[in-house]
This record gives sequence, C-alpha cells and structure tokens, in this order.
Amino acid sequence: MKDSRARIAVFISGGGSNLQALIDAEKAGILAGDVVWVVSSSKKAYGLRRAEQAGIDTWVYMPKRYDSAQGAAQDLLRKLTEREIDYIALAGYLKLLPAEVVRAYSGRIVNIHPALLPKYGGKGMYGHHVHEAVLAAGETESGPTVHLVDEIYDNGRILEQVRVPVESDDTPDSLAARVLEQEHKLYPRVLSKLIRGEYEQGSN
Ligand code: GRF
Repeated sequence: MKDSRARIAVFISGGGSNLQALIDAEKAGILAGDVVWVVSSSKKAYGLRRAEQAGIDTWVYMPKRYDSAQGAAQDLLRKLTEREIDYIALAGYLKLLPAEVVRAYSGRIVNIHPALLPKYGGKGMYGHHVHEAVLAAGETESGPTVHLVDEIYDNGRILEQVRVPVESDDTPDSLAARVLEQEHKLYPRVLSKLIRGEYEQGSN
C-alpha cells in the first residue's frame, strides 16, 4: 500500500446518511481514508447535497446516456483511475456496478446492506422491501451487513454484521431506523479495517 491516505469514492442513489457517517468519521479522524468523490445514479439524490456541503466532488453516472454499456463502464473506470481512487464504498447505490469496475477493484469495493445476509438480499431487496420481508418472516433479529462486492447483488464475502432485536410492534420504518443507527457506526469501522488490511485475504 502506498504511503498516502486511501482515496475513497462513495456511490449513492438516495439520502446518503451512510455517506454522511463516512464524512463525519473522516472529520473525526477515525476513518482510515478520505472521501474524495461521490457518484450518484440520480441527480435528485439528497446525498449529492451532503457531498457538496462537505466540499467533495460529485458526479451523476447514467450508463443509459452512453452508446453502449461498455462505453459507460470504460468512462467510469477511467474517471476512477484519473482520481486515483483506491476504494469504493456503495452506500445505498441501487445499480449494479459494471463488471469491469468490479474486476479492477476486486477486494476493494464494499457495500452495506440493511439485513443479515445471506438472508434478505438480492435483486429487489432494498429499502423498505428488506424490512417488510424480515417482519413477514417473523424474524427475531435483523441488522446490517458489510460485504465485499462481486458481480452479483449482495453476494460477496461478508466482512461484518451487527445484530439488533426485532420488536413485536415493529413497523418497517421502526426496524429500518434501528438498523440504520447501527449502519452508521459499522460502515466507517469496517471500511477502515479493510483499508488497514485487517481482514484475512480470501475470496471476494
Ligand atoms: C441503507 O439502509 C443501506 O443499508 C442500503 O441502502 C440504505 C441507504 O441509506 N444499502 P442512506 O442513503 O445511506 O441513508
């Protein structure tokens, strides 16, 4: 690893409270890297405002605006390379990253998911759908998972999870809030450990 601090790109699609947690951790001196770029799949994402307020460069990535999926992927990879990005943190990013990017950043892309993977993951399992499914199944616990990213939704190696109770009177919203509170603590910690090389090398 080079001597300078790790450069992190955070990918978002929405509110960006996990992005904010990473920014706050960096400000507090407890993130083992710097958030230098925020990429959003939507120009309406509130997380873009959070990035701007923190003085972080932003970009809206819309693959459909390119002639081909390959052209879109190459442009994204070129921009990541130009900015010397070392790590990618997906924080509520609802799209699949291009395979070229996943391969180039193998072992250096993480995602946070609001349930205890491998349960309640995969395509369509995002936002309130996750918490509705957890409640419908009568689970007694839930909680966030941080995992490495491969080419399949929510599939890569699990790095860490935190368990929270599911209460008998929970609604999807109340459960989401309890999980999200833990996400904000877990994500900066796990990303920092990954950057510091504190997880055993293994498959992604
Ligand atoms: C979080 O619950 C995260 O686990 C999931 O998407 C949500 C993003 O929330 N992947 P926010 O945009 O960080 O507030």
